[in-house]
Amino acid sequence: MKRLVVTLILATVMSGLCSVAACAEQMTQAERRKLFQTGAKLWPVYCAQCHNARPGSEFAPYQWDQIIMHMRGLSNMPAEDARAIVEYLKGGRE
Ligand code: HEC
Repeated sequence: MKRLVVTLILATVMSGLCSVAACAEQMTQAERRKLFQTGAKLWPVYCAQCHNARPGSEFAPYQWDQIIMHMRGLSNMPAEDARAIVEYLKGGRE
């Protein structure tokens, strides 16, 4: 019983701590699809404000993880929107 409680507490703490990348791995196909579609709508809205909206094929997925952090800081975009846009820019690539 005690072990079960400890496991449950650990699982709760761990799930709250997952990084953006780790959370993406835990998402179902349907959730990723939805995020991708939201990102496709938000991408021209946010990313064409200061320069032309750069296409996802221009950079590798790992590069987008870094670029989105920089652009997010410049534009004050909420984390949820940044997550959707980066999913779109990666276009299903890992
Ligand atoms: C608030 C203005 C602003 C917004 C909004 C913005 N950017 Fe940028 N972006 C910049 C500026 C300024 C630079 C060039 C200077 C720098 O890197 O800070 C830049 C540079 C870039 C580069 C060039 C990096 C390189 O090495 O060639 C990419 C790619 C990029 N942005 C992607 C995006 C994407 C994707 C979005 C939407 C999520 C976005 N930007 C939104 C201001 C913005």
